[in-house]
Amino acid sequence: MPTLGSADYCSPEIFAVEQARIFHASWMYACHIDGLPAGTKRSFDIAGESVIVTRDIDGDVHAFANVCRHRGAELCDRAMSCATKGSIRCSYHAWTYGLDGALVATPRVDDQFDRDRYGLWPYRAEVWNGMVFVSVADQPPTLDSWLAKQTPDLIGFGKLPIADYRIGARSETVVAANWKIIIENYAECLHCAVVHPELVDLIPVYRSGHVLDPDRDDGAVAFTEGSEAFTIGGRSRLSVLPGLAPTPEYNGTAMFPNAFFDLTPTALALTALFPVSPSCTVVVGEYLFAAQDVERPDFDPAPEFEFNELVGAQDYVVCETVQRGVASRAFTSGGLTHKDRYVADFVAQYLDIRGPVATN
Ligand code: FES
Ligand SMILES: [Fe+2]
Repeated sequence: MPTLGSADYCSPEIFAVEQARIFHASWMYACHIDGLPAGTKRSFDIAGESVIVTRDIDGDVHAFANVCRHRGAELCDRAMSCATKGSIRCSYHAWTYGLDGALVATPRVDDQFDRDRYGLWPYRAEVWNGMVFVSVADQPPTLDSWLAKQTPDLIGFGKLPIADYRIGARSETVVAANWKIIIENYAECLHCAVVHPELVDLIPVYRSGHVLDPDRDDGAVAFTEGSEAFTIGGRSRLSVLPGLAPTPEYNGTAMFPNAFFDLTPTALALTALFPVSPSCTVVVGEYLFAAQDVERPDFDPAPEFEFNELVGAQDYVVCETVQRGVASRAFTSGGLTHKDRYVADFVAQYLDIRGPVATN
């Protein structure tokens, strides 16, 4: 089976189709709820559409267009990657909105202006097991139906108390690669022995290019004998995550279209992809740990964080080489092998949702 073609990775026209039919038509993972404490707001760039996500003091999550209803100024900094407290105040004429989107102040406006008609334009935000998803679509499918259809493996982790985990470390990386190249890389392990020497030491089955252990049917892959955590050396001082057995293994899944879910005994890494252009993706990693660990003064996420970041950095180097390669005028499409079959599954899922694109 062939890979996608050069235009699928490089063309602005196809990126525009993806915005219309995927990123702005469905649900995108935004952040873990711990990254949005009650009474705060954050902005997210959902493939070119800037969105403010808020959590009001009652704990309810909302999403709005990042646009002032007065004369259209952008309200929050697009790069507001951390939550900030309080209401939303426009930097142009200081109109101010509550975290529920209501217009609450219009300084120096003397006429009888009907504020009730000028609340922020709403988008959709929903929380699944502590994970915040956003949709800018006019009529998105329900989040539950979207996840059940596009990310059924995630539903299998529904019993874990993910909402109770706490963010202990965070990273943000600009990767010069198409978002699909990053997902396709995640979906195969033929590269693992070449690119990730430390990872295949910890997870021996990866050395042979398997993503899943062919001798197991539960989706997990075991750590090497004597290792207990996803760290260099396989040791950790952190607690096993609540709801998880202390089994030394990795389990995970990709969430279509923009996140990875990587579960190990002491850490859950949630990685969100925010596509910026055909050849640029911002990758945000949130590292979740047991709450009692994060709250300890001597909490140290470094062993888990640094190992995950090492593997990620190794991946992004090769993803960027692929982006440069597929931009070559020589590249038509590549060929997928049996051990690339989850790449093939992703390509089929992607093409099914995106649909055909007219080419000149
Ligand atoms: S444009 Fe925002 S207050 Fe005027
Ligand atoms: Fe990799």
